[in-house]
Amino acid sequence: MLCLGIETSCDETAVALCDNGRPILEKLASQADLHALFGGVVPELASREHLRRMGPLLSALFDEAGLTMADVDAVAVARGPGLLGSLLIGLAAAKGLCLASGKPLIGVDHLHAHLLAATMGREVAYPALGLLISGGHTQIMLMRSPLDVAVLGRTIDDAAGEAFDKAAKSLNLPYPGGVYIDRLGRGIEPDRTLFPRPFLENVHLDFSFSGLKTAVATFIAARPHLRAVVMPATGVPVAPEAWPMELRLACSSLNFAIADTLRVKLERAIDSLDAPAASLLAAGGVAANEPIREMLSRLSARRGLPLFLPEPALCADNATMIAVAGCLLGQAGLHHDLSLAPVPRGRRVPWDYLSGPGIGRASVDSGFAPQ
Ligand code: KG4
Ligand code: ZN
Repeated sequence: MLCLGIETSCDETAVALCDNGRPILEKLASQADLHALFGGVVPELASREHLRRMGPLLSALFDEAGLTMADVDAVAVARGPGLLGSLLIGLAAAKGLCLASGKPLIGVDHLHAHLLAATMGREVAYPALGLLISGGHTQIMLMRSPLDVAVLGRTIDDAAGEAFDKAAKSLNLPYPGGVYIDRLGRGIEPDRTLFPRPFLENVHLDFSFSGLKTAVATFIAARPHLRAVVMPATGVPVAPEAWPMELRLACSSLNFAIADTLRVKLERAIDSLDAPAASLLAAGGVAANEPIREMLSRLSARRGLPLFLPEPALCADNATMIAVAGCLLGQAGLHHDLSLAPVPRGRRVPWDYLSGPGIGRASVDSGFAPQ
């Protein structure tokens, strides 16, 4: 089954082709440079950029792959959660292609797709415990099967990526800043007491990163000399050695505080499951963070759970994961009609697929109660 995937939920415009879950080609245009000028994503600009880039990206994808819409079996599109105006551009493109070609439309939960990116091309044993860590979400998920996912815990305020990005902003590092905190902390032993590991003194699996965000901002406000005098260019790798040791220690300590907070809640989740987890997986932009990946691989070895992590490029938003999800859903006979609606951030993505004959039980709960 050849599936076209379309991703426009935030600030990456991406289209990709997958054949039975195997990636063929992806074309991705990042808007990071544009939004870096404002220190965060400006929704109206994001929508305009998606609109400007969608057509050329689709043409380049099909030209380079030597394929046309006639070869495609289904069109999968991220339908949320995300920025409403951005999602609408992807949905409009997907619906237009389906209307013109008669091919089925498959709306994909962006968070579900992130998790599936970790399973691509691998034999994952279920149930799997999944950690989804991105700019907008921090969730512990139980995957009973690839199409049966439930949320066990989630952030009650900010996401882990938000804590990274706000810390970077206080340091006058470009948006999105997680990768800078990651790199600048490399090779430095963290001070484990410098920043709090938030929201651990409770029994549940939820997270709260807003207090950590404030602690880091207060720490930097008291040490203005740590702020970069000139903001480095977006996307240009920084050389950690060129930066003050005090700053690198702060970055390493923040990496530790976030990684260890995630570890504590994951261990708690592993211990609380009725049916023991058979594997551990993590996904989302923050899953590219090296100390977090190291924490996960130590945890996996200690608890005897095979670990599945996407390669760093597939941790961030991309269309390959949407196409992979589309293949799985399509093969299960699940699809939508052209009335498919986008789901903004903060809303639960409904499991409202239309199903063909012989479809088994499947559900995905991305965990946000309607507001
Ligand atoms: O999944 P993603 O690309 O977009 C969302 O769906 O939000 O995640 C973006 C987030 C940003 O907060 C970014 O700073 C963070 O992922 N991120 C990282 C790293 N690379 C990206 N955070 C920490 N370390 C990294 N290496
Ligand atoms: Zn994402």
